[in-house]
Amino acid sequence: MNMKGTAMVIYTVKTYTGNRLLAGTTSLIYIQLRGTEDWSEEQNLNCIHGFWQGSEQEFKIDCEATLGELTSVKLYSKPFMGLYDQWFCDKITINTPEGLEILFPCYCWLDSNETLFLRPAKASLVFQDTNPMTKDGQKQRTRELVEQQKLFRWRVYAEGTPQVIDYDTATTLPPEVQFSFTKEAEFIFSAAKQLACLKLTGLADCRKSWESIRDLEKILCENRSTIIEYCEEHWDEDEFFGYQFLNGLNPMMIQRCSTLPEKFPVTDDMVRDSLRGSSLQQEMEKGNIFLSDYKMLDGLVGNVVNDRQQYLTAPLVLLYCSPYGRMLPIAIQLRQQPSKDNPIFLPTDSKVDWKLAKIFVRNAEFAVHEIDFHLLRTHLLAEVFTVATLRNLPSPHPLHKLLFPHIRYTLQINIMARNQLISMDGTLSKYAGVGGESLGKLLKRATASLTYSALCLPDNISERGLETVPHYYYRDDGRKLWDIINKFVAGLLSHYYQHDAHVQKDTELQCWISEIFTNGFLGRDSSGIPSSFQTLQELIKFVTMVIFTASAQHAAVNNGQYEFGGWMPNYPTALRKPPPMEKGQTTENMILETLPDVSTTVNGMAVLALLSKDAADHYPLGHFPENLYDEEVPCKLTEDFQKDLKKLSHFIEKRNKKLELPYTYLNPKNVDNSVAI
Ligand code: FE2
Repeated sequence: MNMKGTAMVIYTVKTYTGNRLLAGTTSLIYIQLRGTEDWSEEQNLNCIHGFWQGSEQEFKIDCEATLGELTSVKLYSKPFMGLYDQWFCDKITINTPEGLEILFPCYCWLDSNETLFLRPAKASLVFQDTNPMTKDGQKQRTRELVEQQKLFRWRVYAEGTPQVIDYDTATTLPPEVQFSFTKEAEFIFSAAKQLACLKLTGLADCRKSWESIRDLEKILCENRSTIIEYCEEHWDEDEFFGYQFLNGLNPMMIQRCSTLPEKFPVTDDMVRDSLRGSSLQQEMEKGNIFLSDYKMLDGLVGNVVNDRQQYLTAPLVLLYCSPYGRMLPIAIQLRQQPSKDNPIFLPTDSKVDWKLAKIFVRNAEFAVHEIDFHLLRTHLLAEVFTVATLRNLPSPHPLHKLLFPHIRYTLQINIMARNQLISMDGTLSKYAGVGGESLGKLLKRATASLTYSALCLPDNISERGLETVPHYYYRDDGRKLWDIINKFVAGLLSHYYQHDAHVQKDTELQCWISEIFTNGFLGRDSSGIPSSFQTLQELIKFVTMVIFTASAQHAAVNNGQYEFGGWMPNYPTALRKPPPMEKGQTTENMILETLPDVSTTVNGMAVLALLSKDAADHYPLGHFPENLYDEEVPCKLTEDFQKDLKKLSHFIEKRNKKLELPYTYLNPKNVDNSVAI
């Protein structure tokens, strides 16, 4: 019995300590429950054995009367016997005397002598936040954002490219985005380590040319996979060359060609054999002619690799979709401006001439794929979305909850890539033809030409005129995945935003998109990226794009890097000779002298192997390690999302059984939630 003679009420508190290294603590943890009617006494959660990693512990808190609706939990930590020890708390649940179970997500570190205020999982928009804990829930949101904006600041990485997070090393990032990242993870993110794993360290400094293509087989040894072997066997075939425009590492370059560009004067005589007697005009009218134009590389000067000048070129490739549904190259011009010393290479030329022309195209592919489609359009954009989310959306915001799984590990991987791969002395800068100065220039050009529609798969496919081309599995699987993500996002956002007016008056959301527009897309209206949202539909589309980019699109351009690039001639990182200026001069030996030397080959393989590894801390799309919602609607939507993804996985696996080369990159099982490698 208490002083007033009324019955005590009991709150049951469960704590969940994170299952990660050093998550447990010996510190003294104090708790106070705060409700609309009253606050509990501050109580030491007397945990004799400490809160150990992965543990769940239960405590009773007695109160004289009900506290009303629980609005927050205050947690603070004191050192035990002078020993400072952090605690990583995943979440707290509280069973109230009224029979409710309320979830308080935490998922961050609590340092000794530090205080945290946790809020119930129920999401709210800023103008709906009536949390009376501070008499004004909005103030609490503002305070949270002020702190977040001190911790997560923008930094100009290079003029004319998206801004990045203002941290120099991955291990110094604030605890709330550390996840399970460790110093060890930073240590093993190195091409040199990967070189050792591939058992190629001994060749790292050998600057000789390969004596024959077949010698490359020897270095594959145990570093093989079905797809590498397929590349090894078929890399020189036109059908595989054409296939990769649709389903290779970079399914983004090819577009339908309805008028031949003036700079690429292919004549009917040149391609009559390839078109089985038909004319270019006829085939263009039927929609069977396609173009891949690397104009973005025009004028870029190649890097110096192993003390030797490398050569970059900006080719044009004309392709024909044959009656059997195969995409075949029919003409290649290696430089942008037509001239006598810039011949148009054809499949009817000598085998070596044609082979060398295709090698220059594959090298151009390396440059645009890695710098534009992989680095810029997935890694750097995911970082923009991450920083904008951390700075502008407080933890109760439904979009914060929705995006949190999709920002996991992105800051770490990007900081490490900047430090170890693309910095001036990074491995990519040392061994890629597009390294160093040209890398910066290309990134700037790519940023300047980036558009919103190019990032939205359905728009991108129709802009490139690829709606009906057969055997385009990136498009087929990508569309389905886009629709599944879109359905989930639409369900979730329309639960919180009942009408457009809610979108318009969500000041936090408007700041979020405004920073993305300004700091990510450099305020460029011509990008088509919105700078504010007026309607719910606009918001749904944009958020679908954000999640698709960080998950599916990254998987499509990332996961096959070693599989398609491990066989060097299929994806040469640098070329040692300029493109040929006349036909009939190429020899097999000249091809070997053009391809990367031994050192460049193995270092390139090491980078590609590193970038294709499973991320250290990854979760497949739709599997959310953090329990951020406890409301019925988002939980049900998440369940449906997972079911839809599973169905798509089955469909893709069944389809793949019938394919000579299965397309696996957009199988949801192989897609991570976030850019994490
Ligand atoms: Fe990546």
